[in-house]
Amino acid sequence: MNGGIDVIDQAARLLEQGRLVAFPTETVYGLGADAENPAAVAAIYAAKGRPQDHPVIVHLAPGAALEHWAAEIPDAARQLAAAFWPGPLTMILKRAAHIPDAVSGGQDTVGLRCPSHPVAIALLQAFKGGQGGIAAPSANKFGNVSPTTAQHVRDEFGVDDTLALVLDGGQSQVGIESTIVDLSRLATRGPVLLRPGHISAEAIAAVIDQLPCAPDAAAPRASGTLESHYAPHTPVAMQPTEILGATLAQLAAAGKKVALIHYSDLPPAHAELRLPAAPEGFAHALYAALRTMDGSGADLILVEAPPQGGAWLGVNDRLRRAAHGSVGIVHGLLNQDVA
Ligand code: TXA
Ligand code: MG
Repeated sequence: MNGGIDVIDQAARLLEQGRLVAFPTETVYGLGADAENPAAVAAIYAAKGRPQDHPVIVHLAPGAALEHWAAEIPDAARQLAAAFWPGPLTMILKRAAHIPDAVSGGQDTVGLRCPSHPVAIALLQAFKGGQGGIAAPSANKFGNVSPTTAQHVRDEFGVDDTLALVLDGGQSQVGIESTIVDLSRLATRGPVLLRPGHISAEAIAAVIDQLPCAPDAAAPRASGTLESHYAPHTPVAMQPTEILGATLAQLAAAGKKVALIHYSDLPPAHAELRLPAAPEGFAHALYAALRTMDGSGADLILVEAPPQGGAWLGVNDRLRRAAHGSVGIVHGLLNQDVA
Protein backbone atom coordinates (compact mmCIF):
# COMPACT_ATOMS: atom_id res chain seq x y z
CA MET A 1 0.00 0.00 0.00
CA ASN A 2 1.18 3.58 -0.57
CA GLY A 3 -1.81 5.55 0.64
CA GLY A 4 0.10 7.68 3.20
CA ILE A 5 -0.43 11.44 3.62
CA ASP A 6 2.63 12.49 1.59
CA VAL A 7 1.80 10.44 -1.45
CA ILE A 8 -1.85 11.52 -1.28
CA ASP A 9 -0.77 15.18 -1.29
CA GLN A 10 1.53 14.42 -4.20
CA ALA A 11 -1.38 12.78 -6.04
CA ALA A 12 -3.62 15.80 -5.37
CA ARG A 13 -0.96 18.20 -6.74
CA LEU A 14 -0.50 16.03 -9.86
CA LEU A 15 -4.28 16.10 -10.46
CA GLU A 16 -4.32 19.89 -9.99
CA GLN A 17 -1.57 20.08 -12.66
CA GLY A 18 -3.79 18.20 -15.10
CA ARG A 19 -2.12 14.80 -14.76
CA LEU A 20 -3.81 11.40 -14.46
CA VAL A 21 -3.71 9.53 -11.14
CA ALA A 22 -5.20 6.09 -10.47
CA PHE A 23 -6.74 5.62 -7.04
CA PRO A 24 -8.58 2.93 -5.08
CA THR A 25 -12.29 3.05 -4.40
CA GLU A 26 -14.40 0.52 -2.55
CA THR A 27 -15.82 -0.71 -5.89
CA VAL A 28 -12.90 -0.78 -8.35
CA TYR A 29 -9.84 1.42 -9.03
CA GLY A 30 -10.48 4.68 -10.88
CA LEU A 31 -8.37 6.53 -13.47
CA GLY A 32 -8.71 10.07 -12.19
CA ALA A 33 -8.39 13.56 -13.66
CA ASP A 34 -9.55 17.05 -12.66
CA ALA A 35 -13.19 17.05 -13.81
CA GLU A 36 -13.03 20.80 -14.52
CA ASN A 37 -9.96 20.53 -16.77
CA PRO A 38 -11.14 19.43 -20.25
CA ALA A 39 -7.60 18.58 -21.42
CA ALA A 40 -7.06 16.34 -18.40
CA VAL A 41 -10.39 14.61 -18.98
CA ALA A 42 -9.48 14.15 -22.65
CA ALA A 43 -6.31 12.38 -21.49
CA ILE A 44 -8.48 9.77 -19.70
CA TYR A 45 -10.28 8.96 -22.93
CA ALA A 46 -7.00 8.70 -24.82
CA ALA A 47 -5.43 6.44 -22.18
CA LYS A 48 -8.44 4.12 -22.04
CA GLY A 49 -9.17 4.10 -25.77
CA ARG A 50 -12.71 5.01 -24.83
CA PRO A 51 -15.25 6.52 -27.25
CA GLN A 52 -15.69 10.28 -26.74
CA ASP A 53 -19.43 10.11 -26.19
CA HIS A 54 -19.24 7.92 -23.07
CA PRO A 55 -19.60 10.12 -19.97
CA VAL A 56 -17.40 9.69 -16.88
CA ILE A 57 -18.44 9.75 -13.23
CA VAL A 58 -17.37 12.73 -11.13
CA HIS A 59 -16.17 11.74 -7.65
CA LEU A 60 -16.80 14.19 -4.80
CA ALA A 61 -15.54 14.56 -1.23
CA PRO A 62 -18.03 13.90 1.57
CA GLY A 63 -20.19 16.98 2.09
CA ALA A 64 -19.32 18.49 -1.31
CA ALA A 65 -21.84 20.98 -2.69
CA LEU A 66 -24.04 19.15 -5.22
CA GLU A 67 -25.19 22.57 -6.52
CA HIS A 68 -21.75 23.10 -8.02
CA TRP A 69 -22.18 20.06 -10.26
CA ALA A 70 -25.90 19.60 -10.84
CA ALA A 71 -28.45 22.07 -12.21
CA GLU A 72 -31.40 20.33 -10.57
CA ILE A 73 -31.20 18.41 -7.32
CA PRO A 74 -34.42 16.51 -6.60
CA ASP A 75 -35.26 15.55 -3.01
CA ALA A 76 -34.62 11.92 -3.96
CA ALA A 77 -30.98 12.79 -4.73
CA ARG A 78 -30.48 14.40 -1.33
CA GLN A 79 -32.15 11.45 0.40
CA LEU A 80 -30.01 8.90 -1.46
CA ALA A 81 -26.81 10.87 -0.80
CA ALA A 82 -27.70 11.00 2.90
CA ALA A 83 -28.43 7.27 2.97
CA PHE A 84 -25.62 5.82 0.82
CA TRP A 85 -22.73 8.33 0.55
CA PRO A 86 -19.90 7.79 1.03
CA GLY A 87 -20.58 4.53 -0.78
CA PRO A 88 -21.04 2.62 -4.05
CA LEU A 89 -23.93 4.62 -5.54
CA THR A 90 -23.70 6.91 -8.59
CA MET A 91 -26.54 9.34 -9.27
CA ILE A 92 -27.22 10.82 -12.70
CA LEU A 93 -28.52 14.41 -12.45
CA LYS A 94 -29.03 17.32 -14.83
CA ARG A 95 -25.61 18.87 -15.12
CA ALA A 96 -24.56 22.39 -14.19
CA ALA A 97 -23.72 24.59 -17.18
CA HIS A 98 -19.97 24.77 -16.58
CA ILE A 99 -19.37 20.98 -16.55
CA PRO A 100 -17.08 20.24 -19.50
CA ASP A 101 -18.65 18.37 -22.42
CA ALA A 102 -15.87 15.82 -22.07
CA VAL A 103 -17.20 14.80 -18.64
CA SER A 104 -20.80 14.39 -19.73
CA GLY A 105 -20.07 12.85 -23.12
CA GLY A 106 -22.12 15.67 -24.66
CA GLN A 107 -25.25 14.72 -22.67
CA ASP A 108 -27.13 17.17 -20.43
CA THR A 109 -26.46 15.13 -17.30
CA VAL A 110 -23.60 14.34 -14.95
CA GLY A 111 -22.87 11.22 -12.90
CA LEU A 112 -21.90 11.96 -9.28
CA ARG A 113 -20.58 9.69 -6.57
CA CYS A 114 -18.84 10.02 -3.21
CA PRO A 115 -16.69 6.90 -2.69
CA SER A 116 -16.09 5.43 0.77
CA HIS A 117 -12.54 4.10 0.43
CA PRO A 118 -10.40 6.05 2.94
CA VAL A 119 -7.65 6.71 0.38
CA ALA A 120 -10.22 8.04 -2.12
CA ILE A 121 -11.73 10.28 0.55
CA ALA A 122 -8.31 11.57 1.63
CA LEU A 123 -7.43 12.29 -2.01
CA LEU A 124 -10.72 14.11 -2.64
CA GLN A 125 -10.20 16.18 0.50
CA ALA A 126 -6.62 17.09 -0.48
CA PHE A 127 -7.52 17.91 -4.09
CA LYS A 128 -8.49 21.60 -4.50
CA GLY A 129 -9.16 21.80 -0.78
CA GLY A 130 -12.03 19.32 -1.02
CA GLN A 131 -13.93 21.56 -3.47
CA GLY A 132 -12.94 19.78 -6.67
CA GLY A 133 -14.34 16.80 -8.52
CA ILE A 134 -12.27 13.91 -9.83
CA ALA A 135 -13.56 12.47 -13.08
CA ALA A 136 -12.76 8.78 -13.03
CA PRO A 137 -13.82 5.79 -15.05
CA SER A 138 -12.59 2.37 -14.00
CA ALA A 139 -8.82 2.23 -14.55
CA ASN A 140 -8.81 -0.31 -17.39
CA LYS A 141 -8.55 -0.17 -21.16
CA PHE A 142 -11.98 0.17 -22.77
CA GLY A 143 -13.91 -3.12 -22.64
CA ASN A 144 -11.49 -4.87 -20.28
CA VAL A 145 -12.19 -6.18 -16.80
CA SER A 146 -12.11 -3.42 -14.15
CA PRO A 147 -9.12 -3.41 -11.78
CA THR A 148 -9.58 -4.22 -8.09
CA THR A 149 -5.91 -3.89 -7.08
CA ALA A 150 -3.14 -1.38 -7.82
CA GLN A 151 -1.24 -4.14 -9.63
CA HIS A 152 -4.19 -4.66 -11.98
CA VAL A 153 -3.94 -0.96 -12.89
CA ARG A 154 -0.21 -1.24 -13.55
CA ASP A 155 -0.88 -4.33 -15.67
CA GLU A 156 -3.33 -2.26 -17.77
CA PHE A 157 -1.29 0.90 -18.28
CA GLY A 158 2.17 0.85 -16.76
CA VAL A 159 3.17 4.08 -15.03
CA ASP A 160 4.64 6.59 -17.47
CA ASP A 161 3.95 10.02 -18.91
CA THR A 162 0.27 9.13 -19.28
CA LEU A 163 -0.41 7.81 -15.79
CA ALA A 164 1.57 9.84 -13.26
CA LEU A 165 0.85 7.77 -10.15
CA VAL A 166 -1.08 4.76 -8.89
CA LEU A 167 -2.26 5.06 -5.28
CA ASP A 168 -2.36 1.63 -3.65
CA GLY A 169 -5.21 1.03 -1.23
CA GLY A 170 -5.27 -2.76 -1.22
CA GLN A 171 -7.99 -4.87 -2.81
CA SER A 172 -11.31 -3.11 -3.42
CA GLN A 173 -13.89 -4.32 -0.93
CA VAL A 174 -17.04 -4.41 -3.11
CA GLY A 175 -15.30 -5.61 -6.27
CA ILE A 176 -17.85 -4.59 -8.91
CA GLU A 177 -18.68 -1.08 -10.11
CA SER A 178 -21.14 1.21 -8.35
CA THR A 179 -24.88 1.02 -8.76
CA ILE A 180 -25.99 3.78 -11.18
CA VAL A 181 -29.42 5.33 -10.73
CA ASP A 182 -30.67 7.96 -13.19
CA LEU A 183 -32.62 10.71 -11.43
CA SER A 184 -32.45 13.16 -14.34
CA ARG A 185 -35.88 12.26 -15.72
CA LEU A 186 -37.78 11.71 -12.48
CA ALA A 187 -40.89 13.60 -13.56
CA THR A 188 -41.40 11.62 -16.76
CA ARG A 189 -39.75 8.25 -16.11
CA GLY A 190 -39.14 7.97 -12.38
CA PRO A 191 -35.80 6.63 -11.14
CA VAL A 192 -34.03 4.30 -13.62
CA LEU A 193 -31.45 1.67 -12.67
CA LEU A 194 -28.74 2.02 -15.33
CA ARG A 195 -26.27 -0.42 -13.74
CA PRO A 196 -26.97 -2.88 -10.89
CA GLY A 197 -24.43 -3.07 -8.09
CA HIS A 198 -23.94 -3.60 -4.39
CA ILE A 199 -26.72 -1.13 -3.52
CA SER A 200 -29.88 -2.83 -4.77
CA ALA A 201 -32.99 -1.33 -6.36
CA GLU A 202 -34.88 -2.45 -3.26
CA ALA A 203 -32.46 -0.59 -0.97
CA ILE A 204 -32.97 2.54 -3.09
CA ALA A 205 -36.74 2.08 -2.99
CA ALA A 206 -36.63 1.84 0.80
CA VAL A 207 -35.18 5.38 0.88
CA ILE A 208 -37.13 7.18 -1.88
CA ASP A 209 -40.37 5.13 -1.88
CA GLN A 210 -40.03 4.39 -5.59
CA LEU A 211 -38.53 1.27 -7.14
CA PRO A 212 -36.03 2.18 -9.90
CA CYS A 213 -37.14 0.63 -13.19
CA ALA A 214 -35.06 -0.97 -15.93
CA PRO A 215 -33.56 1.28 -18.64
CA ASP A 216 -35.76 2.11 -21.65
CA ALA A 217 -34.74 3.11 -25.16
CA ALA A 218 -34.40 6.77 -24.08
CA ALA A 219 -32.01 5.91 -21.23
CA PRO A 220 -28.62 7.58 -21.55
CA ARG A 221 -25.75 5.71 -23.13
CA ALA A 222 -23.38 4.07 -20.69
CA SER A 223 -20.36 2.03 -21.65
CA GLY A 224 -20.86 -0.22 -18.63
CA THR A 225 -24.23 -1.07 -20.12
CA LEU A 226 -22.85 -2.22 -23.49
CA GLU A 227 -23.67 -5.85 -24.16
CA SER A 228 -20.03 -6.83 -24.42
CA HIS A 229 -17.95 -5.32 -21.61
CA TYR A 230 -15.85 -6.34 -18.61
CA ALA A 231 -14.42 -9.15 -20.75
CA PRO A 232 -11.10 -11.00 -20.39
CA HIS A 233 -9.23 -11.99 -23.57
CA THR A 234 -9.92 -15.69 -23.02
CA PRO A 235 -13.49 -16.65 -23.98
CA VAL A 236 -15.91 -16.86 -21.05
CA ALA A 237 -18.90 -19.19 -20.71
CA MET A 238 -21.37 -19.61 -17.87
CA GLN A 239 -23.16 -22.85 -17.12
CA PRO A 240 -25.55 -23.97 -14.38
CA THR A 241 -24.15 -26.24 -11.68
CA GLU A 242 -26.18 -29.27 -12.84
CA ILE A 243 -24.43 -29.60 -16.22
CA LEU A 244 -20.96 -28.26 -15.36
CA GLY A 245 -19.53 -31.64 -14.37
CA ALA A 246 -20.52 -33.21 -17.69
CA THR A 247 -19.19 -30.22 -19.66
CA LEU A 248 -15.86 -30.41 -17.83
CA ALA A 249 -15.56 -34.10 -18.67
CA GLN A 250 -16.39 -33.52 -22.35
CA LEU A 251 -13.93 -30.63 -22.69
CA ALA A 252 -11.19 -32.64 -20.95
CA ALA A 253 -11.85 -35.58 -23.31
CA ALA A 254 -11.53 -33.18 -26.25
CA GLY A 255 -8.14 -32.02 -24.92
CA LYS A 256 -9.35 -28.52 -24.05
CA LYS A 257 -7.94 -26.60 -21.11
CA VAL A 258 -10.60 -25.14 -18.86
CA ALA A 259 -10.11 -22.46 -16.19
CA LEU A 260 -12.97 -22.97 -13.78
CA ILE A 261 -14.45 -20.28 -11.53
CA HIS A 262 -16.93 -21.92 -9.19
CA TYR A 263 -18.49 -21.98 -5.75
CA SER A 264 -19.75 -25.63 -5.49
CA ASP A 265 -17.89 -28.94 -5.29
CA LEU A 266 -16.86 -29.80 -8.85
CA PRO A 267 -14.30 -32.07 -10.54
CA PRO A 268 -10.79 -30.62 -11.08
CA ALA A 269 -9.92 -28.55 -14.17
CA HIS A 270 -6.74 -27.19 -15.84
CA ALA A 271 -6.97 -24.27 -13.39
CA GLU A 272 -9.59 -23.44 -10.85
CA LEU A 273 -10.59 -20.82 -8.35
CA ARG A 274 -13.29 -21.40 -5.80
CA LEU A 275 -15.08 -18.20 -4.78
CA PRO A 276 -17.38 -17.63 -1.80
CA ALA A 277 -20.94 -18.87 -2.39
CA ALA A 278 -22.47 -15.57 -1.20
CA PRO A 279 -22.95 -12.59 -3.55
CA GLU A 280 -20.78 -10.10 -1.60
CA GLY A 281 -17.82 -12.47 -1.38
CA PHE A 282 -18.23 -13.61 -4.99
CA ALA A 283 -18.34 -9.99 -6.26
CA HIS A 284 -15.31 -9.06 -4.15
CA ALA A 285 -13.19 -11.80 -5.76
CA LEU A 286 -14.68 -11.97 -9.27
CA TYR A 287 -12.54 -9.54 -11.30
CA ALA A 288 -9.25 -10.71 -9.78
CA ALA A 289 -10.35 -14.28 -10.56
CA LEU A 290 -11.13 -13.40 -14.19
CA ARG A 291 -7.71 -11.76 -14.56
CA THR A 292 -5.89 -14.71 -12.97
CA MET A 293 -7.73 -17.19 -15.17
CA ASP A 294 -7.07 -15.04 -18.23
CA GLY A 295 -3.38 -15.61 -17.56
CA SER A 296 -3.68 -19.36 -17.04
CA GLY A 297 -3.28 -20.40 -20.67
CA ALA A 298 -6.75 -21.98 -20.78
CA ASP A 299 -8.89 -22.27 -23.91
CA LEU A 300 -11.93 -21.23 -21.96
CA ILE A 301 -12.92 -19.63 -18.67
CA LEU A 302 -15.94 -21.58 -17.46
CA VAL A 303 -17.97 -19.94 -14.70
CA GLU A 304 -20.51 -21.73 -12.53
CA ALA A 305 -23.64 -19.63 -13.05
CA PRO A 306 -24.66 -17.95 -9.78
CA PRO A 307 -28.27 -18.08 -8.55
CA GLN A 308 -30.65 -15.52 -10.08
CA GLY A 309 -31.76 -13.84 -6.82
CA GLY A 310 -31.77 -10.07 -6.23
CA ALA A 311 -28.46 -9.80 -4.37
CA TRP A 312 -26.76 -11.60 -7.27
CA LEU A 313 -28.05 -9.11 -9.88
CA GLY A 314 -24.80 -7.12 -10.13
CA VAL A 315 -22.62 -10.23 -10.42
CA ASN A 316 -24.90 -11.82 -13.02
CA ASP A 317 -24.95 -8.58 -15.02
CA ARG A 318 -21.12 -8.44 -15.18
CA LEU A 319 -20.78 -12.16 -16.00
CA ARG A 320 -23.39 -11.96 -18.76
CA ARG A 321 -21.44 -9.11 -20.38
CA ALA A 322 -18.11 -10.91 -19.96
CA ALA A 323 -19.57 -13.97 -21.73
CA HIS A 324 -21.49 -12.06 -24.39
CA GLY A 325 -18.82 -12.20 -27.08
CA SER A 326 -18.28 -15.94 -26.56
CA VAL A 327 -21.79 -17.30 -27.11
CA GLY A 328 -21.57 -20.90 -28.39
CA ILE A 329 -17.92 -21.26 -27.36
CA VAL A 330 -18.37 -24.56 -25.47
CA HIS A 331 -20.12 -26.14 -28.44
CA GLY A 332 -17.46 -24.67 -30.74
CA LEU A 333 -14.57 -26.11 -28.72
CA LEU A 334 -16.19 -29.55 -28.54
CA ASN A 335 -16.86 -29.70 -32.28
CA GLN A 336 -13.70 -27.99 -33.49
CA ASP A 337 -11.87 -31.05 -34.74
CA VAL A 338 -14.89 -33.04 -35.83
CA ALA A 339 -15.90 -31.18 -39.00
O1 TXA B 1 -17.71 2.11 -9.20
C1 TXA B 1 -17.59 2.90 -10.12
O2 TXA B 1 -18.56 3.52 -10.59
C2 TXA B 1 -16.21 3.09 -10.71
C3 TXA B 1 -15.32 3.78 -9.67
C4 TXA B 1 -13.98 4.15 -10.21
O3 TXA B 1 -16.00 4.89 -9.15
N1 TXA B 1 -16.27 3.85 -11.91
C5 TXA B 1 -16.76 3.34 -13.06
O4 TXA B 1 -16.65 4.22 -14.11
O5 TXA B 1 -17.22 2.23 -13.15
P1 TXA B 1 -16.86 3.75 -15.62
O6 TXA B 1 -16.62 4.97 -16.43
O7 TXA B 1 -16.02 2.58 -15.92
O8 TXA B 1 -18.37 3.44 -15.65
C6 TXA B 1 -19.26 4.49 -15.39
C7 TXA B 1 -20.51 4.30 -16.12
C8 TXA B 1 -20.31 4.29 -17.62
O9 TXA B 1 -21.11 3.25 -18.14
C9 TXA B 1 -20.80 5.65 -18.03
O10 TXA B 1 -21.28 5.65 -19.34
C10 TXA B 1 -21.89 5.90 -16.99
O11 TXA B 1 -21.34 5.41 -15.82
N2 TXA B 1 -22.14 7.31 -16.81
C11 TXA B 1 -21.33 8.26 -16.32
N3 TXA B 1 -21.91 9.46 -16.40
C12 TXA B 1 -23.12 9.27 -16.94
C13 TXA B 1 -24.19 10.12 -17.33
N4 TXA B 1 -24.14 11.44 -17.16
N5 TXA B 1 -25.27 9.56 -17.88
C14 TXA B 1 -25.33 8.23 -18.06
N6 TXA B 1 -24.37 7.37 -17.75
C15 TXA B 1 -23.27 7.88 -17.20
MG1 MG C 1 -15.54 0.80 -16.66
